[in-house]
Amino acid sequence: MTDSEQPPDNPKSQEDPLFPEQSAAEPNFVTVAKVGEIPEGEGRAYPVGKRMVAVFFSEGKYFAIDDFCPHQGASLAEGYIDSASCSVACPWHHWRFSIDNGAWLDNPKIAVDKFEVRAMGENIQVAEPKE
Ligand code: FES
Repeated sequence: MTDSEQPPDNPKSQEDPLFPEQSAAEPNFVTVAKVGEIPEGEGRAYPVGKRMVAVFFSEGKYFAIDDFCPHQGASLAEGYIDSASCSVACPWHHWRFSIDNGAWLDNPKIAVDKFEVRAMGENIQVAEPKE
């Protein structure tokens, strides 16, 4: 076997042209808080990469969306969660956004970014946004 025939060191880092989504690299997860630091039914804002991300804990699950309200820039993490509609109402003028997918409930064509979030052991981690 010559050098050119060596298998790649990390086969997952090689993109499969037939199934690019399956072979995409795992996002870089950043620890933002410890499990238990966000009370049930509330949110907190954390810097992740160059963004501020609002992380919510509702009905025992974590959600993460852009913290910046597209209306006038309030922190959505300081808004009011409605667990029935899985949404947060902005603290300034009450625009409501899905905490599950970021959609503005009054016009779902408009949405703030949503981010992957997970609990790993005692850490809450958010996938670093791609620039
Ligand atoms: S700043 Fe969020 S609704 Fe106005």
